Amino acid sequence: MPAKVLEPKTSKAKALWAERQAVVSAGSAAYSSVVVAKARNAKVWDVDGKEFIDFAGGIGAINVGHCHPKVVAAIKDQAEKLLHTSFHVAAYEPHIKLCRKLTQATPGNFDKKALLFNSGSEAIENAVKFARAFTKRRAIISFDNAFHGRTLLCLTLNSKYKPLKQHFGPFAADIYHARFPNPYRPPRGVRPEDVSDYALEELERLFLNEVSPEDVAAVVVEPVQGEGGFVVPPQGFLGALKKICEGHGILFIADEVQTGFGRTAKMFAIEHEGVVPDLLVTAKSLGAGMPLSAVVGRAEVLDAAPAGSVGGTYGGNPVSCAAALAVFEIFEEEKILSAAAKVGEAVKARFDRWAREIAIVGDSRGLGAMRAIELVSDKKTKKPLSVPMVKSIVRACEEKGLILLKAGAYDNVLRTLMPLTIPEADLEKGLDIMEDALVSARP
Ligand SMILES: Cc1ncc(COP(=O)(O)O)c(C=O)c1O
Repeated sequence: MPAKVLEPKTSKAKALWAERQAVVSAGSAAYSSVVVAKARNAKVWDVDGKEFIDFAGGIGAINVGHCHPKVVAAIKDQAEKLLHTSFHVAAYEPHIKLCRKLTQATPGNFDKKALLFNSGSEAIENAVKFARAFTKRRAIISFDNAFHGRTLLCLTLNSKYKPLKQHFGPFAADIYHARFPNPYRPPRGVRPEDVSDYALEELERLFLNEVSPEDVAAVVVEPVQGEGGFVVPPQGFLGALKKICEGHGILFIADEVQTGFGRTAKMFAIEHEGVVPDLLVTAKSLGAGMPLSAVVGRAEVLDAAPAGSVGGTYGGNPVSCAAALAVFEIFEEEKILSAAAKVGEAVKARFDRWAREIAIVGDSRGLGAMRAIELVSDKKTKKPLSVPMVKSIVRACEEKGLILLKAGAYDNVLRTLMPLTIPEADLEKGLDIMEDALVSARP
């Protein structure tokens, strides 16, 4: 089945889509053809009034729901008072308050500090700078199948080559890729239950052959891989990795840009393993749609960067900080973590059934409400379903009113990043649309 051409069906959206093609870089991703006019909680409406259920949540940035009234009120209130000075020119209270909140909300009983930025990529870049300044070492280890952003250093940390890296080199130096344990796709000859041991042995091999551990400043790891297809490492892997880091004086940086703020039914995914990172990077749902990111962690590491060496014009602007402070209140008042657990259970029940009953659903996996199915053309060989087929399924969902994202090294994973506040009826309707599309798909 060929992939359907990406194009909206309704009139105003069609005209805007054509204008987009004319004036927006063709290099920008287009995961759907929806041209949105407004959004509320887990629904969006396009410019012609067509309604969609949103399982993408702004790529995981809308965990408390679109345009949460409390977030909107906080933004309006702050916008009336102060839009921008640059924190480094004239400090303001929402920024300082938010840094305090972040130091309290992140794991670790030690003195912590934070610094705010605009995007996940920018925060990852700065976490690496802090780690290098503190350790006085140069090398960084990331993992295969990782995604950390689209700036040059982040591209280097990533492992998916096409379309992320091709033509964009040369890349940053001193980045080394270790193996990430994927129980669904173990290396040939390795049993699924042994993927962690294998990955840790490979890390030792990397230390012998490619870079000595005493030259490594930090390991950067997603506790659950996001763009890589929601790969959950076996229990114990992250703890073992942390121990290795501690043994060599290597800092452990948890990239919680996608996993953070309740997605896995804990505030941060690393808490499932009881692992305390030296630095934690968060973004996306921290700002509920406003551009905001943070590096939070050991005070002595964040203080290792010389005065004036880190920051930027807009990082942690007052309006984004006000939105984030509202997000913290919403988490308490609306018990978002329990809501995430409930959403996760409902999605898991469906996905597990599909993995048993639908021929092209090879795997159902995830943590909390961060759930995915991996599509295959043959369950035995695990041959990934072709990209045009996966695109057709996503397109079929869109036609029926569901926005859905794919992911994974083979672009064959369907993932859920819906607001954690999604009403049960919307969740069930969205899952019904997905189920119809999967059952009707003919490889
Ligand atoms: C785990 C992870 N790290 C970093 C990033 C980069 O964040 P941003 O797109 O805000 O630069 C992303 C974005 O999807 C991500 O999922």
